[in-house]
This record gives sequence, C-alpha cells and structure tokens, in this order.
Amino acid sequence: MKDYGHQPVLVEETLAYLQASRPGLYLDCTVGLGGHALEILKRNPGAKIIGLDLDELSLKEAARRLADYSSRIQLFQADFRNILELSEFIPLAELKGVLIDLGISSFQLDNPERGFSFNLEGPLDMRMDTRQKTTAEKILLTYPESRLAEIFKKYGELRHTRLLAKKIASSRKLGLLKTTTDLKKLVEEVYRWVPQKNRLHPAARVFQALRIEVNQELKGLDVFLEQLAKESPPETRLVVISFHSLEDRLVKRAFQRLSSSDEGQPVVKILTRKPATPTLEEIAANSRSHSAKLRAVERLL
Ligand SMILES: C[S@@+](CC[C@H](N)C(=O)[O-])C[C@H]1O[C@@H](n2cnc3c(N)ncnc32)[C@H](O)[C@@H]1O
Repeated sequence: MKDYGHQPVLVEETLAYLQASRPGLYLDCTVGLGGHALEILKRNPGAKIIGLDLDELSLKEAARRLADYSSRIQLFQADFRNILELSEFIPLAELKGVLIDLGISSFQLDNPERGFSFNLEGPLDMRMDTRQKTTAEKILLTYPESRLAEIFKKYGELRHTRLLAKKIASSRKLGLLKTTTDLKKLVEEVYRWVPQKNRLHPAARVFQALRIEVNQELKGLDVFLEQLAKESPPETRLVVISFHSLEDRLVKRAFQRLSSSDEGQPVVKILTRKPATPTLEEIAANSRSHSAKLRAVERLL
C-alpha cells in the first residue's frame, strides 16, 4: 500500500521536551498521519496515546500506520480546541504530555482534491474537516471585497491586498474563479510574478491566508492552551510546533501569560526561552520543516 511522504518535524526535540520515555498517557492533539505518535509508541512500550484530528482521511491513514500499536492508541475525529467537551474521552488528570503540531500535513497538501496547494490543480476547498460547510471557494465568492483584503493582509501578511480583492471580485462575477490554478494565475497577474530563486511565490501567502480563514486556525488557540495547561496535572509537558509567525506569536504570548506571576502563582515553567528550530540537516532532508518552531512548557505543582 502507498506510504505517504509526510515526515514528522523536530522528532527528537519533540520527544525530549515531552519526556516521552515516561510511561503513561500522551495526548497528540494533531495526530495527522501519526508520525510523532509512532515514534513515541515504538520507543516507549509504557506509552499510551490519544490522538485527535479534524481530518477523517488523515485519521484513517494514521490508524493504518499505527495498526501494530492499536492496543495503545485511540483516535478521535475532533477539534482539539474543544478539549473541555472531550473530557469524557480524555482523562486530562492522567496526562504526561501533550503535543500540538499545527498546520497541515504533506498528505493533505499533496492531495489535489483538497485544494491546499497552489501547485496542484484542484477545487478551491481547503477544509481540514470536510463536514464543515465553508470552503475557500465559498469565501472567495461571497465575502465582501473589504473583508477579503483584510484576510489577505492579516493572515497572509501581503501587500496590495485591496487590488487583489478587487481582482477577485471582478473574476468571480465572470465565473472565472473555480480552481486552485485560476486563483494562482490571478495572483501572478496582480503581483506581476516573475519566478526568482529564493523568492516566495505570492500565491503561497494567499493560500495560507485562505486556509487560515477556512479553518479558523488562529481562533481560540490561546484560550485552548490556557485551558489545557490549567487542567493538566503537575509535570505535564506541553509542546507546540508552529509554522508561521502568527501562530508562534499566539503560542509565545499564551505561554508567557501562564508563566507569569502577575495574577497569582505561575501555572507553567517555560522550557524554551527561544524556540527550538530544525537543524540544517533536517531542513535539507525535509524542506517543509524550514519554518517550524517548537515551544514547550511544564505544568508546575
Ligand atoms: C502538521 S500535521 C500533523 C502531523 C503529525 N504530527 C504527524 O507526524 O503525522 C497537522 C494536523 O493537525 C490537524 N489539525 C489542525 N488543526 C486542528 C484542530 N484544531 N483540531 C484537530 N486537528 C487539527 C490537521 O488536520 C493535520 O492533520
């Protein structure tokens, strides 16, 4: 059977910060294809894992890859931000470590049907959870121009976003915005794209912004981290891997608030004053790891 090319990032660093050799329960909030989970289960026979993901297809693939360890892993299709509602399935008081590896996997990115990649022709979908109604196409076809411009500015950190939004509005009227390639071509026109070495394609940022909006990726991330840290027992390790500055900023600030003694006892101790990042060897072996940043904290007594 085909094995998909998703390589988990910062594996050694993740396992070290999680102290994943301790026996007990680990929560993988974004189990994806189970890359990190597999390493924990393989190396630590005393580890049990609960894995969550929004994406049904990824969970099926994770179940297949983790089949040898099925007695020690449970998988659920769920949004990790609903952690408190999931307490029926997740005994938070037993946790040893929690991993949150944000964003999407290569399995999702490389499937044209999912519409995540501007390099692959496909529908403008971009949903992690396909039960959800809002797709990228719906956003592009229905949002007012001003809101589109705002999203591209805020989540894509792009310039000329009003012009981009205007062009989208005129293309959609003509029914010319149906596929990832339609959007990519439109972006290339607006930004007068000429391929250059070491220059990021502007569609990368446009697609990032849309993906964040479709999946509401930044919404509630900080609240979730605070709830999780407070509900976890002492010595639980929380590890978060993020892939762009907007996410990393939210994580950094949430950890700062939790570690501060401004409002009483600090809840956590920060283990990474500076985020851990991939080595040059890892980046050479897996270019998608290049922007990864790992931050970790430990729940205090
Ligand atoms: C970078 S991948 C994780 C890869 C995984 N660590 C591995 O090694 O295979 C991120 C995963 O998180 C999932 N995801 C993103 N936001 C989520 C959320 N709020 N709740 C649950 N899963 C989420 C995505 O569907 C994706 O499968």
